[in-house]
Amino acid sequence: MDYENILVERPAEGVGLVRLNRPRAFNALTGPLMDELMSALESMDTDDAIGCMVVTGNEKAFAAGADISEMAQATPVDMIDMAFIARWERLRSIHKPVIAAVSGYALGGGCELALACDMIVASETAQFGQPEINLGVIPGAGGTQRLTRTIGKALAMEMALNDRRLTADEAARFGLVNHVAPVAEYLDVAVKLAAEIAARAPLAVRLAKDAVNMALETTLSAGLAYERNHFYALFATEDQKEGMAAFLEKRKPAWQGK
Ligand code: HXC
Repeated sequence: MDYENILVERPAEGVGLVRLNRPRAFNALTGPLMDELMSALESMDTDDAIGCMVVTGNEKAFAAGADISEMAQATPVDMIDMAFIARWERLRSIHKPVIAAVSGYALGGGCELALACDMIVASETAQFGQPEINLGVIPGAGGTQRLTRTIGKALAMEMALNDRRLTADEAARFGLVNHVAPVAEYLDVAVKLAAEIAARAPLAVRLAKDAVNMALETTLSAGLAYERNHFYALFATEDQKEGMAAFLEKRKPAWQGK
């Protein structure tokens, strides 16, 4: 498929890479860009050759937020009519893991996009922030909710109310980021992590992602029951038989995704 705002690559076996590609606007997230990103991820999600995806920008900017020129004159009805944020929800339906590889600015919707991914690998120059308050609005694609759940109320308040930015090291310390690497290496680190996950038992990866995400949605009792059901369900797979047999036979498992 031809895309205008993103580049799609296969940098390693099992890995699908999407690069946001509006460098002159610091990858500001227009509606068409978000539609292309979601379409690319959805098509990778159904591609058996791909087990994990990476979303990245460039060294200077992951994304500087939703495109301000698209919404500057909008009314609430315009925002609803153009499904401004509804398209972001498509990311929640992706079954395979998605890793954000973030360098430079991850601001506003850019920070929210990274937060909506399953893991974040950051370069040393990454900067996470919710500057919407400077525009007279608030985060609209999960910033107040996901930040609060991840880094806690005190810091989330400061980010949303007073444009407090987090460096990569702070983000790692507060549990927002999985790994921090030099600018020259952060994308390789993300792709290597994605390739490792892609080489694992696909159904178990899928259910592990789903169960971890459920922890943010529900009570402990309901979450434990949900996890247990997924655990039992995996005993219906060939990969469970293979994985346990391989351990006992002291050999590497050969996963089938069945
Ligand atoms: C539209 C943007 C943009 C954005 C940058 N640009 N961010 N255009 N929407 N979010 C454009 C600028 O207009 C400019 O275009 C070009 O990119 C270069 O930006 P400069 O400001 O000239 O560069 P610099 O001085 O280096 O500053 C970089 C920056 C700054 C720190 C990233 O641009 C900035 O603060 N951007 C806005 C960040 C922001 O407020 N994000 C939140 C958006 S609201 P021209 O044509 O002049 O060269 C949001 C709500 C999400 O995200 C809601 C859920 C979907």
